[in-house]
Amino acid sequence: MWEARPPTYEDHMQKPLIIANWKCNPSTREQAEHLFGTIKRETKNINGVKIVICPPFVWLPSLNGLSLGAQDCFWEKDGAYTGEVSPKMLKDLGWCDYVILGHSERRKYLKETDEMINKKIKAALKSDLTPILCIENISQLKKRTKDLLRKEQKKLIIAYEPVFAIGTGKPCTPEKAKEMKTAIKKIIDKDIPIIYGGSVNSQNATDYIKMAGFQGLLVGGASLDSEEFIKLAKNVARACPVVELRSLRDCVQ
Ligand code: PGA
Repeated sequence: MWEARPPTYEDHMQKPLIIANWKCNPSTREQAEHLFGTIKRETKNINGVKIVICPPFVWLPSLNGLSLGAQDCFWEKDGAYTGEVSPKMLKDLGWCDYVILGHSERRKYLKETDEMINKKIKAALKSDLTPILCIENISQLKKRTKDLLRKEQKKLIIAYEPVFAIGTGKPCTPEKAKEMKTAIKKIIDKDIPIIYGGSVNSQNATDYIKMAGFQGLLVGGASLDSEEFIKLAKNVARACPVVELRSLRDCVQ
């Protein structure tokens, strides 16, 4: 029986995380419920991975039974901010525990700055949401996590998302991604989960975990095709048994 409960640090470190970023899709509630229902049904017996689905805000109240996250939030809890959704509102849904912050598409299309993202992270943490902080480089990581206490940093999930790999079908090589992961670990607490995102599919998913030592994946396009996403989850669960994960992380630094 699925039970909504706030995720713990251990949840993120014990199993590979597979986070679906649906972006601005699908365009009807019926399609969203169908996609979600299929993923839920077909992954319920896969114990080796932790799946989080991040749909558009409006579909969040209709979906239940897998961990959920939003794709953005505002930095104030309420007030005269037309069009914004606050972390407090997301938390109040009762089953939304994550929020993607700093995705490069928000910088590209909406001019989101590092300073805004820094404020959003702090607000999300105050409402007990787990921020999935996307970064493309170390400079962004430093600016976006500015002034965070060590104990606050430990509540983040960092997603390395090289912009050339997002939605292009041209993923970063596991070797290059691993170099970036090592660089990230030099800046932040070394136990923070770091995941990879950018043209991940069922064929290349395991490389980022087994070869490059990432803790999980942020999956865009491939998460909208239920068959492909389920295959991806199965492949990761099969290739990366839970018992191996900690030792893998320790040796693939
Ligand atoms: P993609 O998107 O998997 O379609 O490349 C990933 C993302 O933008 O988070």
